[in-house]
Amino acid sequence: MSAPDHTEVDLAELVAAARAARAHAYCPYSGFSVGAALRATSGALYTGCNVENASYGATLCAERVAVACMVASGDRAITAMAIYTDVEPPAMPCGLCRQVLSEFGRGMLIVVAGPKSSRQTSLAALLPEPFVLE
Ligand code: THU
Repeated sequence: MSAPDHTEVDLAELVAAARAARAHAYCPYSGFSVGAALRATSGALYTGCNVENASYGATLCAERVAVACMVASGDRAITAMAIYTDVEPPAMPCGLCRQVLSEFGRGMLIVVAGPKSSRQTSLAALLPEPFVLE
């Protein structure tokens, strides 16, 4: 049996952090809690949960809250993100979040996890042709 590699260990840690962040979700309207955790290239870990609003449209997804937390702390590049929901199969990041993530890490890994399963993919697979302003 071989030892788990560094990426596997890090992704397991990210999933645990996303699961913990989900406990803080503010979702009185949908009742659907989401947690996210990302690893920045600096090595720092940032988390987020969804923050809903009575207007509905002003709701922030967990993934974008984690990105905002990262940027506000001085980091700008993401290597991997985990998203935890309490459903099977685990929920995928919405299209708006995929576009926001593409701003800070086109090559990032994404893990979606739930109580019984997890799936590893990449942002490139989920959003092959993001909008780029150049
Ligand atoms: N939500 C997320 O946090 N991330 C996503 O990628 C999709 C949806 C949240 C927004 C809202 O609070 C709830 O899930 C139901 O849509």
